[in-house]
Amino acid sequence: MTGDATSKALRHARNAKAAAREAPPPKTLEAIGFVDAASAIRAWPGYAPTPLVQPPGLAEELRLEALYVKDEGQRLGLKSFKALGGAYAVQRLVATAKGPVTVTCATDGNHGRAVAWGARSFGAKAVIYMPEFVSPGRAAAIEALGAEVRRAPGNYDEIVRQVAIDAKQNGWHVVSDTSYAGYTDAPRQVMYGYGVMAEECIAAFKGEPPTHVLAQAGVGALAAALCARFWIEWGPRRPRFLTVEPETADCVFASIEEGKPATVTGDLATVMGGLSCGEVSKLAWEVLRTGVDDALAIGDSWAIDAMRMLARATPPVIAGETGGAGLGALIALAEAPNLKRHLDLTPDSRVLVINSEGDTDPAIYREIVGAS
Ligand SMILES: Cc1ncc(COP(=O)(O)O)c(C=O)c1O
Repeated sequence: MTGDATSKALRHARNAKAAAREAPPPKTLEAIGFVDAASAIRAWPGYAPTPLVQPPGLAEELRLEALYVKDEGQRLGLKSFKALGGAYAVQRLVATAKGPVTVTCATDGNHGRAVAWGARSFGAKAVIYMPEFVSPGRAAAIEALGAEVRRAPGNYDEIVRQVAIDAKQNGWHVVSDTSYAGYTDAPRQVMYGYGVMAEECIAAFKGEPPTHVLAQAGVGALAAALCARFWIEWGPRRPRFLTVEPETADCVFASIEEGKPATVTGDLATVMGGLSCGEVSKLAWEVLRTGVDDALAIGDSWAIDAMRMLARATPPVIAGETGGAGLGALIALAEAPNLKRHLDLTPDSRVLVINSEGDTDPAIYREIVGAS
C-alpha cells in the first residue's frame, strides 16, 4: 500500500538509553548462534557474499568521506536479505522435526518468499499469509516457489496474530520474522541468519569499521541482527547505529522515544512496504533498546529519491522501495545540516547503508524509476 509519495518528512529521536561504547553486547544474540548460521548458510548451493559497493560520486554528493551500499538485491536469486533468515529457520526446524512439516508465516512479501524457498529447498510445505494490499507481483513470486498464498484482512501485525491461531488449529509451524511473548525460537534463528550479512560486511571492512550504520526497520529484526553482530565484533569501536523507518509505521522510533515497546496502529501506509509494521519484535527490542543511538522516521519521497539515485549510479544499483530507505534518510539529512551535524555525519564519515531488496516487484520498480 503506498503512502504519500510527496512527503519530505524527517524526524529524529536520540536514544536516551543508548549503551555506553564500552558496554558489553546484550545476551539476546550470541556469537555462537551467528557462527552456526553462517556455516550452514555458506554451504547452501548458490550461496555467495553479496557485494559491498561504493557507487562513484554518491559520497561526494552527500558530503561524506565514503558511502558503502551492501547490495542485498543479489541475494540467492531471491532479491532480498530475507532469504538468509526465513530459509535458515526452516532448515533448522525441518532438521529436528518428526514427520512432514508445514511452515507458515505472515509477510509483506520478502519474508514469505524466503520461507517458501526454504520449504522447497529443505522439504516442507508452506502456507503464506499476505495482507490484501500487497501487490500481485509479490504474491506470484511466492506461488512460483510452490507455496500456497492466502490473502488476509488487516495490517501486518493483525495477520501475525491470525497466523498463530491458524497454525495451532492445523498443526503447522510458525516461522515468523517477529517474536512475541512465548514465541522466540524461530525468530531468533531468523536473526542469526541475517547475521551473515554482517559477517560479510565485517570481512569486507578489513578491521576498519564504518563510522555510522543506517539500517531500515520494520519489526526491527534486521537492524537488531546487524547491531548485535557489529557490537560483538567491534565492541567500543562499533559504528553509531541509526534505524530508519517510514513516518507512518515508526514503531521502533516510538519505542525509542518512550523507552519501552510502543505500538503504531492504523493502515501503516507507506511505499516502503517491507517496513509497514506497527509492533517491534520482542527479541529485536532487547537489542535495539540500548543498541540504537538514534532513530529516524522519513517520508516516502526520500525512499523514492534513493531508488532513483542508485539507479543512476555507474554501474546501477537496483533498489526496491524498501531497499532505498537508509540512503533515503541520508538524502533527507543532506537538506537538514543541523541535524546532520548533531549526528556527527561530517565529510570524514564513512557510512554503511543496506540496500535490503532489489526490484522484488519489477512492475512497481519500472513505474517508480522509469526503467527496468
Ligand atoms: C526489503 C526489506 N528490508 C527491510 C525489512 C525490515 O526488516 P525487519 O522487519 O526485520 O525490521 C524488510 C522486512 O520485511 C524487508 O522486506
